[in-house]
Amino acid sequence: MKRMPFGVIARVDIWSARGAVFGAVAAMMLSGAVAWAAESAPAPMVLTGADRRPAISLDGEWAAIVDPYFSGLFSFHHEEKKNGWFVNRKAQPGDAFPTEYDFSTASKLKVPGDWNTQRPALLYYEGPIWYERDFTYQPKEHTRVFLHVGAANYKSWFWVNGQKVCEHEGGFTSFNCEVTAAVHAGNNFVVAAVDNTRHADGVPTLETDWWNYGGLTRSVSLIEVPETFIEQYDVHLSSTEDGVIEGWAMVDGPVNGATVEVEIPELGAKTSANLSEGGLAAIQIEVKGLKRWSPETPKLYKVILRAGLDTIEDEIGFRTVETRGTEILLNGKPIFLRGISIHAEVPYRTGRANTDQDAETLLGWAKELGCNFVRLAHYPHDETMLRAADRMGLLVWSENPVYWAVQFDNPKVLDKAEQQLEEEIGTSRNHAAIILWSMANETPNTEARTRFIEAEAERARQLDATRLITAALLVRAEGDTKIVDDPLGKTLDVIGFNEYIGWYEGHPESADTTQWRVEYQKPLIVSEFGGGAKAGLHGGENERWTEEYQANIYRHQMEMLNRIPQLRGMSPWILMDFRSPNRQLTGIQDGFNRKGLISEQGKKKLAYYILQKAYKEKTVGKPE
Ligand code: GCU
Repeated sequence: MKRMPFGVIARVDIWSARGAVFGAVAAMMLSGAVAWAAESAPAPMVLTGADRRPAISLDGEWAAIVDPYFSGLFSFHHEEKKNGWFVNRKAQPGDAFPTEYDFSTASKLKVPGDWNTQRPALLYYEGPIWYERDFTYQPKEHTRVFLHVGAANYKSWFWVNGQKVCEHEGGFTSFNCEVTAAVHAGNNFVVAAVDNTRHADGVPTLETDWWNYGGLTRSVSLIEVPETFIEQYDVHLSSTEDGVIEGWAMVDGPVNGATVEVEIPELGAKTSANLSEGGLAAIQIEVKGLKRWSPETPKLYKVILRAGLDTIEDEIGFRTVETRGTEILLNGKPIFLRGISIHAEVPYRTGRANTDQDAETLLGWAKELGCNFVRLAHYPHDETMLRAADRMGLLVWSENPVYWAVQFDNPKVLDKAEQQLEEEIGTSRNHAAIILWSMANETPNTEARTRFIEAEAERARQLDATRLITAALLVRAEGDTKIVDDPLGKTLDVIGFNEYIGWYEGHPESADTTQWRVEYQKPLIVSEFGGGAKAGLHGGENERWTEEYQANIYRHQMEMLNRIPQLRGMSPWILMDFRSPNRQLTGIQDGFNRKGLISEQGKKKLAYYILQKAYKEKTVGKPE
């Protein structure tokens, strides 16, 4: 059978036979897969725990050719070339035509890494760049090979030995292209074309307040799996039955009566379940003496999954999260989320974060601030970040990049948003740290927008019923009263809202006289507030851009926010100054959004200590 994502046809009847646990997931997968296949080349697969598999790393220096007019793929009449640069041709003596590219003499770009911070000439570059890398490989019997791409911003095409293996749209989620049929013994080469051009029908769309870093921004590797292997799995603590771990596993490839086995050695727990013909199995294990995961005790357990010849080992924490009225309950107890917003941008060298070290630096600062929570904005962050959050005990808000005004009335755009959601949740579903899936940020209050995000939220709930759904809403005002009544609030479990009192409107003291009217009896998170300051610039607390002004905003915000009864968390904007094309005030911004509590060179501003004190002394938010 032709390989359709998730082998659509066969599974339908298996699904209906298997009851509620999976039903919803089937519906989601069906519609997403069909949309993808219709639009373009072979669809990559979403694999859970791909970063836990032994891999042949392809990281390092890749040959790179900048191709602003994409002439490596399209002819002068814009037809897709049959012999484009993906064939990696070498000019031959006596050729009757010129070969106008040569990866062997091309300069290099590092992978993983955005290209913008690797060469000054590429800082503002938006367009296609070709990457090529040679590798040796020895095919093995009964073994399939996938090209695992951590992320490629924004559109990307991949060929192995000149054979197209997949294409992808979306800059912040990982995907896996099967290359089993394309690789051969000995020398091989992979060619990628990555194009970070922004598109009106993109997700995100044309406008963002972050740098449009292009390239193979996260690790790339080859992973080998048996013919039948574990494609996705979900292992979590039941929120209804105490001491029960449940979930499911889905394999790809012939089942032949195989079973799935799940073992948690430290708990002496083991179970196995029959795989359906469609490759699905429900998991349920009773466990004793489980230590629940929490920010104070981020306990992770080794979990081993086996199916046929395949084994995957993961490190998973077990906790429950739910709401009760206006409360957020972690492991059944009310919690206040003391957080900070973070972009996937690293200090000092700047550019995209993509290593364990980057994650530990950024999350280390958040821990030092006294945080138990981080809002990873505005797109899914790297698995390295999520694994670090699991280890360090930081709760996570993870967001799909439906940012500002995407084309809400365009069904194709909804497909793209949902495809990115499938990849985000399919890849990261077992992180105890993640408690919130955010559907969007600062979207206009229109009917088309509300319908769009309602559909997205329904998809997210089908994919994962164990987490809370949120979004960062805009608020409106009547005089000194701020009103949280966006109709989208009805769909959300937890309501996030952004406000910039003291910066985009009013003065820091304006917060003192601001009233809040919240039309929802649900937990509220102020997902953004803050103001800009140039590190090292000092002056009066009413002088904009000084550290004193930013600190003044924070002081007044804390008092105001404590007056909102439903407030259950905050993630001020933002941990660190970050590059943004919208920020061009010379001598102050110079291409950076300066709302960080820390400069991009690691210099802490006065407001950092204001927030740290409030978090350490727990003077902000409801007592837990
Ligand atoms: C918005 C937006 C952020 C942006 C911030 C700002 O609220 O969500 O992405 O960076 O405001 O203006 O600094």
